[in-house]
Amino acid sequence: MTKIIKMNSFDFEENELKEASKILKNNGTVVFPTETVYGLGANGLNEIAIKKIYNAKGRPSDNPLILHINKLEKMSEICYIDYSLLKKIKILTPGPITFVLNKKDIVPDAATGGRKTVAIRIPVHPIANKLLKMTDLPIAAPSANLSGKPSPTRPEHVIEDMNNRVDMIITAEELKYGIESTVLDLSNDVPTILRPGPIPPEKLEEIFGSIKIPDFVFGKVKADIALAPGMKYKHYSPDIPVILIEEKNNIEDEKKIILDEYKKRSNSIVLGYEELEEFYKKNNLNYEIISKRFEYYKISVKLFYLLRKYDKISENIIISGIKDKGIGIGIMNRIRKASTIIR
Ligand code: TXA
Ligand code: MG
Repeated sequence: MTKIIKMNSFDFEENELKEASKILKNNGTVVFPTETVYGLGANGLNEIAIKKIYNAKGRPSDNPLILHINKLEKMSEICYIDYSLLKKIKILTPGPITFVLNKKDIVPDAATGGRKTVAIRIPVHPIANKLLKMTDLPIAAPSANLSGKPSPTRPEHVIEDMNNRVDMIITAEELKYGIESTVLDLSNDVPTILRPGPIPPEKLEEIFGSIKIPDFVFGKVKADIALAPGMKYKHYSPDIPVILIEEKNNIEDEKKIILDEYKKRSNSIVLGYEELEEFYKKNNLNYEIISKRFEYYKISVKLFYLLRKYDKISENIIISGIKDKGIGIGIMNRIRKASTIIR
């Protein structure tokens, strides 16, 4: 039986997290909100607790986990890091970014899939951060979806995937970003982006100088040849086909392709932008407006929610792309990886 509690991120008492913290200390599992997506947490230093995560998700156990801590000072307990790097990391934490560093022996192989490195994140979400403080443990927490599904960003989705698979689920109001954290590998000489996310490359370059952005970051390389460990597996995808229409310089070209794809199929939903609403209406398309096309943060908040919503009620999702800029890189990475057809 899973205990489900609802909390208010901006108005809660420490008391409300006592039971959750106790469960984690006793090597149980707790799903909790973060500023990116919901996380499925367990004691990251205990192999039995970590196994429970893989079981609950149905995830292959060589896929490494992120260890979550509440403050920078705890980083050197689990990884090797020098002062100059710590100063740079400090600028971005707490927040929606994960750093890969050389691990210390205290971190079990079960958490890293046998790697010499460990991924570490300090979430800023008040519930996540307070819970981490109370447990005083590095908490391993992948996104709280069943393996293969898009990460959950809403209470109904987290409950759908994790009810009766974990000891406790904590839900809260809308999460700030809605896509997973940026993953930056700092274990080599050149900082390398392994997963694009809310903290964009431009910001990382400002702080770390020159960084490497491998091609797969854009989501264009198919999963089996990608380099980052988690990217071996198909991620984020609804069960129904997702057809991505990339943003075109000429909007008329884009409209033609949308119509072409729409007419080929039945029971499709078009996920698009206010700027195109007249066109959707005129052509009698079944559509939902995500936001304006340049409102990237609004798009990221709704993306996984909409993919999951229409997975249940439509037969196809036709979605328009945005530019590979800022958080748009992270958004497009997720959409491309979820897509069956890209035009
Ligand atoms: O926003 C997030 O990061 C969420 C919340 C819950 O914090 N967590 C999350 O975890 O997305 P997960 O397990 O779904 O994704 C972790 C990513 C994977 O792509 C994995 O391959 C990568 O981090 N990763 C973890 N450890 C790594 C390591 N040692 N080396 C390289 N990549 C690593
Ligand atoms: Mg995940």
